[in-house]
Amino acid sequence: MILVTGANGQLGQSFQKMAAQYPNLQFLFAGSAQLDIGDNKAVKRFFQQHNLRGCINCAAYTAVDKAESEPEQAQRINVSGVQHLARACAAQHIPLIHFSTDYVYHSRQNRPFVETDAVSPKGVYARTKLQGERAALRLHPTGAMVIRTSWVYSEFGHNFLKTMLRLGAERPALSVVFDQIGTPTYAPDLAEAVLFIIDRVQHGVLSGSQLPGIWHYSNEGVASWYDFAQAIFDIQGLSCRVSPIETAKYPTPAQRPPFSVMNKLKIKNRLGVEIPHWRESLEKCLGEMGK
Ligand SMILES: NC(=O)c1ccc[n+]([C@@H]2O[C@H](COP(=O)([O-])OP(=O)(O)OC[C@H]3O[C@@H](n4cnc5c(N)ncnc54)[C@H](OP(=O)(O)O)[C@@H]3O)[C@@H](O)[C@H]2O)c1
Repeated sequence: MILVTGANGQLGQSFQKMAAQYPNLQFLFAGSAQLDIGDNKAVKRFFQQHNLRGCINCAAYTAVDKAESEPEQAQRINVSGVQHLARACAAQHIPLIHFSTDYVYHSRQNRPFVETDAVSPKGVYARTKLQGERAALRLHPTGAMVIRTSWVYSEFGHNFLKTMLRLGAERPALSVVFDQIGTPTYAPDLAEAVLFIIDRVQHGVLSGSQLPGIWHYSNEGVASWYDFAQAIFDIQGLSCRVSPIETAKYPTPAQRPPFSVMNKLKIKNRLGVEIPHWRESLEKCLGEMGK
């Protein structure tokens, strides 16, 4: 069985949805009530009680702005929690698939980031996520796969898409930042990519030894939040007018990277993952929500 932690978050629920397409793989989905990854004894006990073949860690402290006033909680989940899982996986010689963020990049450049580029996280969330990925790689060098992703949305949980749909239906006009550039990621696409990789390892098409290290995954293409909002309203047929504003006019407790587009050639070329364009996936998500 493969353990999925944080199973009730956006990505966790996306794994639950996409797992149905892989009946040969067996999963144990654990929400925070079943397994608190910040509790080392609970993690050890859980790993002793279940015969696990791998762990996919979808648990995280993701409240980017709140993290500025709750650094201990962010540290407990994004760093200590990952340490606990990495040690437990290393002890049992099973792989750990962990997710990190484009927020580790915070420099201005005009080409997509590659996995080996310098990192410069700003803010508690970004720093704790970087510490977490480093802990996973240090404590489980032969089995930790760290996937950096960006701008995650889905039909599950809270996200930018849902906020835009609500505001777009309530208001005649909205201002959205146009000077933060990145790529949206539809969480079920990311879950499917991971399941595809695991399935290929199971079938011997890929070797498990190819997986450790840092990887990028987002949808294809580039957008500003303004472009993303405009596309949501276009596809949904909402008449809400979107105006571009500068980040400086929309201050938040935590700074966001001005440019965090990631290069995905590594995961595509080495592992054979195919990635849809963000607009195609947005249409798919809105279709799912309309069912
Ligand atoms: N969302 C984004 O835009 C984004 C962007 C880049 C990277 N990422 C990364 O992608 C991954 C998945 O994010 P997401 O959007 O799915 O986040 P999410 O919807 O906020 O889900 C996180 C889940 O973690 C659980 N959790 C929190 N503390 C826990 C603990 N101590 N033990 C076990 N579970 C705990 C939460 O459960 P409760 O609700 O019960 O607390 C929640 O279900 C994370 O690593 C995140 O950093 C996300």
